Amino acid sequence: MKKGKDYIVFPLDFDSKKEAFKYVKLLDGKVGVFKIGLELFIKEGPDVIRSIKKMTNARIFLDLKLHDISVTVQKAMLSAVSLGVDMITVHCSSLKMLEMAALGGAGQTQVLGVTLLTDNDTDDLKMAGFKDGYCDDVNSLVLKRAQMAHQAGCAGIICSGKEVEKIKSEFGKNFLCVTPGIRPGWSSPDNDDQKRITTPGMAVKSGSDLIVVGRPIREANDPVKAAQKIVDEIEKAL
Ligand code: C5P
Repeated sequence: MKKGKDYIVFPLDFDSKKEAFKYVKLLDGKVGVFKIGLELFIKEGPDVIRSIKKMTNARIFLDLKLHDISVTVQKAMLSAVSLGVDMITVHCSSLKMLEMAALGGAGQTQVLGVTLLTDNDTDDLKMAGFKDGYCDDVNSLVLKRAQMAHQAGCAGIICSGKEVEKIKSEFGKNFLCVTPGIRPGWSSPDNDDQKRITTPGMAVKSGSDLIVVGRPIREANDPVKAAQKIVDEIEKAL
């Protein structure tokens, strides 16, 4: 049965493997997934994934937000599979690319679609040439792109806690919703840039399958205690 800790994705948002390993050791067994993003991957290369896999049984989420011609993305997926990555992100910008990504994942690496980057607003979409309907109603674009990911055979999408219920009702409970922007009631990181925030309890209650929690754990005086508090909140909400 899925436990509270299995819902938590901890992003290894560090610029060195030394720092990343410190947190993997600290949080091993306390979270379900470690996320490796561009900062760490570009600095340390694929070896960092091999090393982390030796240190923990947690699942590995490679957040590289792939976007290229379909065949290149498919080949990148083969490399991700060979590294033993459990999940990877791909931009929802073309159905063909998403299909090839899902195909490349070969049932071993799950593809999560990035519908729309959260720092894009109406003006950015207008500038990029999107139809007025999508610019004026950004949620309609998120839904359209989620539909593309679903049709392409992706495992799910990244979405805010406020969108989960709609996504699940449109595409079914097996279509994964991974939710960033998580802020427990007791956490208020300095200079917070997350806008559409939800608490861990609210997110899992709405149906989120995984929640990405970075700063509330990383910046806590005791990160292990903070992770445990989030686990308790998730288990209570469920
Ligand atoms: O909890 P915190 O805000 O520190 O989490 C930051 C992490 O969440 C980063 O790794 C970032 O890539 C990821 N993320 C995000 N917003 C999104 C998608 C992912 O902050 N819309």
